[in-house]
Amino acid sequence: MLKKDFKIFEKDYVYLDSAASAQKPQKVLDKLLSFYQSDYANVHRGSCELALKATKLYEEARQTVADFIRADSKEIVFTKGATEAINLVAASYAQTLKKGDEVLVCIAEHHANFVPWQQACILSGATFKTFNVLDDGRWDLNDFEKQLTKRTKVVAVAQLSNVLGVVNPVEKVVKLAHKVGAKVMLDVAQSIAHMSVDVKTLDCDYMAFSGHKIYGPNGIGVLYGKCKALNELKPYQFGGDMVDTVRVEKTTFADVPARFEAGTPPIANAVGLAEALKYVNKIGFAKIQKEENGVFATLIKGLKQIKNVEFLGNPDLKTGLVAFNVKGIHADDLNLILAKENVCVRVGHHCAMPLHARFGVKASLRVSLGLYNDSKDIEKFLKALKKAIGFFK
Ligand code: ALA
Repeated sequence: MLKKDFKIFEKDYVYLDSAASAQKPQKVLDKLLSFYQSDYANVHRGSCELALKATKLYEEARQTVADFIRADSKEIVFTKGATEAINLVAASYAQTLKKGDEVLVCIAEHHANFVPWQQACILSGATFKTFNVLDDGRWDLNDFEKQLTKRTKVVAVAQLSNVLGVVNPVEKVVKLAHKVGAKVMLDVAQSIAHMSVDVKTLDCDYMAFSGHKIYGPNGIGVLYGKCKALNELKPYQFGGDMVDTVRVEKTTFADVPARFEAGTPPIANAVGLAEALKYVNKIGFAKIQKEENGVFATLIKGLKQIKNVEFLGNPDLKTGLVAFNVKGIHADDLNLILAKENVCVRVGHHCAMPLHARFGVKASLRVSLGLYNDSKDIEKFLKALKKAIGFFK
């Protein structure tokens, strides 16, 4: 029972919105407190004992993140979230893409991996393209191959869609993209909490995730980039700590990753994120998946038994999260009753409007799991959902 590691569950919340943000284990909260109480100072600047301790812990956190995804610590940039990590890469491409170049994203992308690329194309004159998903929620690989050309410079995709819940065949797409010389920006904001993510196997060029979805603090994110790919990017923000020398005539920049960490970074949050990753490692994905898959199967079975539930995609292909509508009742209305029953889910377009348009709906109700959910949560949710449906019938 992992719920006991999370003080917030001393109250009887049915928390089924971990895809939006996960709860934090006490270990992470304790670490943040002890860091601020005993080890806090700015990093890379001072030489007093506290400054050295804080710098050591901050850089150790970078190493912990690197180990977690099998990267080198030089390939890890701390950002304020996955969105900032993707914006960093897209902002650089906005300066280097040219008319005739193409960027290809999946129609299912979260806005964070969609809008920055669309805007980079508008700014640079490049062409923004999308490839489709099948009705069951899987990538339409035929469409992907059709849209991918020798002019494609970037392919931007998520390993696990925050609405469809399908684990996508990333390795295959990376191979195809590399064949035409395109770089791949991989969004693992959802998958990182559900499965082991290994950059060596995935072979993506850039990858982004947030701390808050993997039981860490919010306000911290990670951009991974292969050393060469990171070195090809232009600085994103300018200021302290990202420079080598500054003269009136000219500024030269620090090596990566410091080049992309202008100003005081999210120091304590990086230390907190490392603690969260250690917590997840200690439990292990084998156990996490075993528990989550069992609870998820109960959820899908229960939903299938409810009349008029219409899933976005095939419910049997999903991992960790499911989005659906109940025919004839707006998801917002259902949520009013669920909220009254202390059930936390997410309703709306989930920052994936093009995907909802693809499925011909404006909104859906999403249930997403964390490692603390158990079958009692599902029982309570299903009971509350049936009550809500009954109310609006
Ligand atoms: N990206 C987050 C979600 O899907 C906020 O809810």
